[in-house]
Amino acid sequence: MTKDYKRITTNVLQEMKDNKEKISMLTSYDFTLAKIVDNAGIDVILVGDSASNVMAGHETTLPITLDHMIYHAISVVKAASRALVVVDLPFGSYQGDSKKALRSSIRIMKESGAHAVKLEGGGEIIDSIERILTAGIPVMGHLGLLPQTAEKYSVQAKKSSDAVNLLEDAKILEKAGVFSIVFEMVTRDVAKIITESVKVPTIGIGSGINCDGQVLVVHDMLGMFEKIKPKFAKRYLNLSEEIRNAINSYVKDV
Ligand code: KIV
Repeated sequence: MTKDYKRITTNVLQEMKDNKEKISMLTSYDFTLAKIVDNAGIDVILVGDSASNVMAGHETTLPITLDHMIYHAISVVKAASRALVVVDLPFGSYQGDSKKALRSSIRIMKESGAHAVKLEGGGEIIDSIERILTAGIPVMGHLGLLPQTAEKYSVQAKKSSDAVNLLEDAKILEKAGVFSIVFEMVTRDVAKIITESVKVPTIGIGSGINCDGQVLVVHDMLGMFEKIKPKFAKRYLNLSEEIRNAINSYVKDV
């Protein structure tokens, strides 16, 4: 049976993996929705750079800035009384410069009060991860499909050599001290092998059911974002239609 954790910490997430309890994670970017997500009992709220797509309407995650991410994070942190709040470091705020990575992470932690940061990449960004960790800032890794640098969205680690590299990257991140790793669009079997090979919790998105937890973009699972509909994202509601109907009724009333 899942324990009734009052407040989710990185230690609680580890305890959940060790007890084989699944970890739930959703994105949020604003106070109102984050409050609903937190009250519903989600374990981790990700202030994802997917805000660039679903909040700002950009085609990619590249344009969102550190200032924008901090603005979203401040609103989410105010709303979350149980969930662990993780904030994405946006494109350009950490790659190739570990000192910049640390400065960006410190800004997120000081200005928003978030609990952790997330960065995309493996061995190639390990200097940044290690430097952030020296400041005592908890880091979540992100491997597999990396939206900040991906040329196209396709399933990762289909070839066995890619699977071996992915496992190697996961081991590098684990050794550095990340508390968890997101795996995006990785084949179900590879996600299972890696989940069984690392001690830290793995969180999957489009990577099958064998990870220690699952994450989705909240707009996708609520059916609010009509522009892109990822195949792997189960829709639990058709909220855009519900909202449209409500607004139509209002217009008729007026
Ligand atoms: O930005 C985001 O929403 C993410 C998830 C896709 C994991 O990084």
